[in-house]
Amino acid sequence: MKILVTGGAGYIGSHTCVELLNEGHEVTIVDNLCNSNMEAVNRIEEITGKEVAFYKVDIRDREKMGQIFNENDVDAVIHFAGLKAVGESCEIPLEYYINNISGTLVMLDIMKEHGVKKIVFSSSATVYGCPETVPVKEDFPLSVTNPYGRTKLMLEEILQDVYKSDNEWNVILLRYFNPIGAHQSGRIGEDPNGIPNNLLPYITKVAIGELPQLNVFGDDYPTEDGTCIRDYIHVVDLARGHVKAIENMKNGGVEIYNLGTGKGYSVLEVIKNFEEASGKKVPYKIADRRQGDVAVIYGDPSKAKKELGWEAQYGIKEMCRDSWNWQKNNPNGYKK
Ligand code: NAD
Ligand code: UFG
Repeated sequence: MKILVTGGAGYIGSHTCVELLNEGHEVTIVDNLCNSNMEAVNRIEEITGKEVAFYKVDIRDREKMGQIFNENDVDAVIHFAGLKAVGESCEIPLEYYINNISGTLVMLDIMKEHGVKKIVFSSSATVYGCPETVPVKEDFPLSVTNPYGRTKLMLEEILQDVYKSDNEWNVILLRYFNPIGAHQSGRIGEDPNGIPNNLLPYITKVAIGELPQLNVFGDDYPTEDGTCIRDYIHVVDLARGHVKAIENMKNGGVEIYNLGTGKGYSVLEVIKNFEEASGKKVPYKIADRRQGDVAVIYGDPSKAKKELGWEAQYGIKEMCRDSWNWQKNNPNGYKK
């Protein structure tokens, strides 16, 4: 298939492009590089030995998006492009609504104009809010607490409305848990700007000596060791989930899948696994809780296994090993 990947130069997008190309699909990337680097695109080509068409375009640019659809015979879209930092979304909510919501609306409108009605959308486990029980299933109640999460929930609803108005649309909403790790080659990985917000990039920067120590946000949660529990998933597994989703699209419908491992690890367990996998010590101190964190969340990924034939292959050790391999081989990320 010919797949248009928005945000394909980003962390999850770049890994997904590699898996799509490996499976014989053709890939066109649209990315404005606001949170990524052209070097990621070069490395996708290097890893796969295949070419991708790349457009440095903002998905809100109607005219250029129209041209891209004119020039490429697109079968389906995988839509990653968007802003993703929870804390930042509380400081600059309008930027988040304009980028994530308006961008998606422009893109859906252009898709409609060109008769392209297949879309896989990057949603997030954040739409489950603070779940009453775990593991969370796709039909659990939804709630959000910050503008970033609200864009995901609104876009899920918008996409469902689009399908209701025209049953030829195929919409797959993928709710990711916590993607970490990197491609085994060590050539592509997560390259956050500035001080990382997320746990694994922070840990790798401490391990390489760029940051002095990790702050563990709270050790008084109702969990065994008092730190929060999350469902970490290897980004390559996550990427393969997109390939399965695209390849298993039915003739019209909306489907929702959790993409996680179904296992939860505490912050202290992640540190321990990282230290074992890397042979590096990660100094840390216990800090205050971070506002908005839920104590425990992990997913039930059985629907994706049953319907897509997808299941995570990698465990926490491989996730930590590959995060470290990426960091150690690219101490400055994609920057020279
Ligand atoms: P990322 O920032 O690495 O990738 C997003 C890409 O989109 C970047 O390359 C950025 O330059 C591009 N982009 C942003 N706005 C754009 C616009 N208007 N036009 C064109 N390109 C634009 O983030 P990621 O971690 O790869 O996340 C991909 C998607 O998955 C996002 O939608 C994110 O919200 C979602 N998601 C991520 C996580 C996570 O923990 N990483 C968890 C759940 C969901
Ligand atoms: N943590 C620390 N110290 C840090 C960073 C994180 O202790 O420096 C802890 C957090 O408190 C949390 C865990 O590590 O308990 C994981 O935190 P992350 O920031 O890595 O991930 P979150 O679970 O908060 O959020 C991530 C994405 C969101 C997405 C959500 C879905 O950042 O975009 O997963 O569950 F919505």
